[in-house]
Amino acid sequence: MTDVLDPAVQPTTTATDETWWRQASVYQIYPRSFADADGDGIGDLRGVTAKVPYLTSLGVEAVWLSPFYPSALADGGYDVDDYRDVDPRLGTLDDFDAMVTALHDTGIRVIVDVVPNHTSDRHEWFREALASPKGSPARDRYVFRDGTGPSGQDAPADWISIFGGPAWTAVGDGQWYLHSFAKEQPDLNWANREVRDDFLTTLRFWSDRGVDGFRIDVAHGLAKDLPAGDLPTWAEVSALPKDGTHPLWDRDEVHEIYAEWRRVFEEYTPARTAVAEAWVPADRRARYASAEGLGQAFNFDLLEADFDAGSFRTIIEFNLGLAEQSGSSTTWVFSNHDVVRHATRYALPPRSGDAEHAPTTEKQGSAWLLAGGSQDDLDRDLGLRRARAATLLELALPGSAYLYQGEELGLHEVGDIPDSDRQDPAYFRNPGVDVGRDGCRVPIPWTREGSSFGFGPDGAHLPQPAWFADSSVEAEDTDPDSTLNLYRAALRLRRTLQSEEHLEWLETGRDDVLAFRRPNGWTSVTVFGDEPYRLPRGELLLASAPVADGVLTGVGTAWLRP
Ligand code: NOJ
Repeated sequence: MTDVLDPAVQPTTTATDETWWRQASVYQIYPRSFADADGDGIGDLRGVTAKVPYLTSLGVEAVWLSPFYPSALADGGYDVDDYRDVDPRLGTLDDFDAMVTALHDTGIRVIVDVVPNHTSDRHEWFREALASPKGSPARDRYVFRDGTGPSGQDAPADWISIFGGPAWTAVGDGQWYLHSFAKEQPDLNWANREVRDDFLTTLRFWSDRGVDGFRIDVAHGLAKDLPAGDLPTWAEVSALPKDGTHPLWDRDEVHEIYAEWRRVFEEYTPARTAVAEAWVPADRRARYASAEGLGQAFNFDLLEADFDAGSFRTIIEFNLGLAEQSGSSTTWVFSNHDVVRHATRYALPPRSGDAEHAPTTEKQGSAWLLAGGSQDDLDRDLGLRRARAATLLELALPGSAYLYQGEELGLHEVGDIPDSDRQDPAYFRNPGVDVGRDGCRVPIPWTREGSSFGFGPDGAHLPQPAWFADSSVEAEDTDPDSTLNLYRAALRLRRTLQSEEHLEWLETGRDDVLAFRRPNGWTSVTVFGDEPYRLPRGELLLASAPVADGVLTGVGTAWLRP
C-alpha cells in the first residue's frame, strides 16, 4: 500500500497564496468516518494526521473537515456544543495543531466547518437560556416565542423542520424555541450583537491556529425577520418567494453579517477564504460568492442533474457565467456527506419511459434507499464508469472541485444499513419517508481485511459491507486501472494543466458527447452514451475508460493536449 510520500506528486500548483482556492481540488473529510487512531470505532484527528501521506499521494490541494467539535451527534456533529474546542472522542486542540502542521508541511490547506445557524441544545448559551426567564438576555440569543392557547400549550406556529416534525419545541414555561433542523439544534438570533461577536471570535480562533478557510453551513439561514405578534402559517411561509424578503431564508441583510466576516478574513495574510453552503436560487448565489462577502458559494447543480450531456453543458455554461459576474470562481460537487454517492446514483435503473438518462439523487436515490437500498438493484459497473467519467470532466473544468472521502475509491452507497444501526436524525424524524444519510458516511475501507477494513484497530461505528474489501485503498493501490489511481493521475495532471478560468466548447457531432478546450489547449471529451467515439487528434493524457486506436469505447472521459 502506498502510504508513503511520493515525491512525484508534491504540489506544483501555480496559484498564488491569495488565489489558491479559485481552482483548488478540495477533499472533504467526514472525520468520524475517515480513520480511527485510538480504536474507539470513531474516526479522529490523529487518524487524519496518520493519513497525510495518503492525501499527499492522492494529490489534493486542500482538505475540508466536517465538524469535529464537541457534540452529542444529534446531527452528525452539525449540533455544536462548543465552537472553539475538539470533541474529546476525536482528540484535543493539540491534535488539531499537529494535524494542521502535518497537512501544511506537505502543502495541503485546511478548511473547517462553521455552523452559525444553530448551536446544539448542550451549548452553554442554550443551557443558560433554559435556566433564564422569558425576556432575558440569555433567551434573546435564540428565537423564543410564547406558545398559543390559554397556557401557551400549543406551538407558536405549525412550522415543519427540515428533518421533518415540528420546528418549535416547548421549554415548559409557555415558551417555545425555533429549530429549523433537529430539536437539538436551536436556531440562533443573529439580530443579537453578542451572537455576532462570538462568531467573529471563533473565526479568529481557528484562523490564528492556521486554518486557511471556512465552509459555512446553512449560510442562507442566519438573518430572520419574524413578526412580533401572530406568526404566519407554514403554508403561507412556504409559498413566499425567496427573493431576499422571505422571513427565514436568504434575506438580503444576511450579507451584512458576511461583510463583517470578510473584514476578519482580511486581517490575515493570506486572507482567509470561505465557501457558502447556500441553497438559494442560482441567480442569488453570486451575492454569497462576492469578494465583499464569503468569496465563494457551492454550486450543487451537477449533483442534482441527470447524467446527460445537454444538462451538463447548460449547467456548466450557466455557472461559469455566474462566476464571472461575481468575480469568484465556481465550485463543482458530485458527492458529499448529505447525498447518495454519485457512483450509486448513476447505477440506478432508468426511470420508466426515460431509459436514456441516468436518474437524479433526490428522487430516485431516496426512492432506492427507501425500497431497501439493495445492491442487486444497481448496475454497479455502469454507475462507476459514469462516475469516473463525470469526475474527470469535473476536474478539467475551471473552478474548484470538491471531492468527498471514498469517491476516489469509487465507493458505492451502503443502502441496506439495518435500522437498528442508523444514526441520522433525518431517519428518526421521518420514518417511512427518509432513511437518512448514513449510507455515505460508512467508515472508509483502508485494507482488504480486518475487523473494520483498516479503519481502526477495532470496529467501526457504522457497519461496513463485505464488498468494501474490493474497494479498499489496499486493493486499489497497486491496480493501475483502479479508480484511486485514476484520481491520483488526474489530480496530479490537473495541477500542471490548470490555466485561466475559461473554456471553449468544441463541436463533437453527437448530442451525447461534450468536448471543451481550456486556453492552454488542454482538452476534455466526455461520452455520455454507449457508442464508441473517435477522439480528436492530440496527445492522450488520461482516460477514465479504455481507448483503443484513438476511440473511446463508450461512457468515459479522455484528456488530451495538442
Ligand atoms: C448542512 C449539512 O451539510 C448537513 O449535514 C446538516 O445536517 C445541516 N446543514 C444542518 O446543520
